[in-house]
Amino acid sequence: MHTTTPAFRKTTETFASGAKTLPQRYFVSPEVFAQEQAGIFSKQWVLVGHQSQIAGTGDYIVQQVISESLIVIRDKSGEIRGFYNVCRHRGTRLKEDACGHTSTIQCPYHAWTYGLDGKLIGAPHMDDVPGFDRAEHSLHPVNLALWEGFIFVNLVDTRNASTRLRNPTARQAERGGYIPLEEWFAPLAGKFSHWNMSILRSAKRIEYDVRANWKLMFENYSECYHCPGVHPMLSKVSPYDSAENDLCEGPFLGGFMSINKGKSLTMSGNACALSVGKIENLQQVFYYSIFPNMLLSLHPEYVMVHQLWPQSPERTLILCDWFFHPDAFAVSDRGGGPDFNPDDAIEFWDMTNKQDWHVCELSQQGIASRAYQPGPYSSRESIPAAWDREYLRYVR
Ligand code: FES
Ligand SMILES: [Fe+2]
Repeated sequence: MHTTTPAFRKTTETFASGAKTLPQRYFVSPEVFAQEQAGIFSKQWVLVGHQSQIAGTGDYIVQQVISESLIVIRDKSGEIRGFYNVCRHRGTRLKEDACGHTSTIQCPYHAWTYGLDGKLIGAPHMDDVPGFDRAEHSLHPVNLALWEGFIFVNLVDTRNASTRLRNPTARQAERGGYIPLEEWFAPLAGKFSHWNMSILRSAKRIEYDVRANWKLMFENYSECYHCPGVHPMLSKVSPYDSAENDLCEGPFLGGFMSINKGKSLTMSGNACALSVGKIENLQQVFYYSIFPNMLLSLHPEYVMVHQLWPQSPERTLILCDWFFHPDAFAVSDRGGGPDFNPDDAIEFWDMTNKQDWHVCELSQQGIASRAYQPGPYSSRESIPAAWDREYLRYVR
């Protein structure tokens, strides 16, 4: 037990009366969207994947963050590195595919070749150029760090000393100061160790293209006021009013909800895999939002993670992964032990996700109307109200 861990409090207990939903412009305005891209997605640690996705040397993923394409790759020493997907010769995009495996990074234009550590190792005929030094033409790195096995990048230019703060405070972060990942995640240190997230493997990824502003998904995720009507099946196994939160203010928000005895959040209602770790209480599911683009749902036998990628004020791409203990896959291969049936969980949440995205799209449509005005949050929506407060610290 961590003695410093904040206590869990019922959702209604942390409600700040008078809280209202955000004004229309936050959901429709290109100017606000540009502020978010510049003030949040260019400056904060954003989730791009999990280390298990690039398990071998030379495995890579390509991810767009704001307008930048990044290559995230595992080098020969096993370290994961991030580079701008930009050739140092004439700037050409190096990798076009979303993921793959490669022994070197070779530009498709004039075949400049970079090692997995980003160093330029081949540049045809450039030795003829007086003064040319390969060492000065490595790929531009991007800040990259791991938290619990998840890969995060941060586009702040830390080669510029003014952005490297010694004792960063949240205020400085708002102004664009760089906070090292360990400091950013310090409030969560050790909190999720039971779930073994660094060793888990994704059994499935589903991509959703949602016609709604990205903030609506955070607000939706942060309350279960909507559950009785929107998620009849979820509500049967997890009482909608059972939420208790230990993180009620700030960039990390959430807590747990109860799962009825002997049940699981699956289509069948049964557990679908080995537990991901030593989970003492099988009757709890934990839901946390991690600002600005991660939703973390911790079940006893799987961890579901949503990555949110705003595309425009009114459109968001969502990547959803379902992670299981690596032994769960092996047990299935041997045909013994607990049944491994990941589809049981995936189908359940795919259905639930779509129910959520549908109401988010309906919200977007109504919010875009001239009739929309900020409405009052209920006391069961204390966490979305807290999320909005946090968001407004970055965008005015
Ligand atoms: S642009 Fe990449 S080698 Fe010329
Ligand atoms: Fe929901």
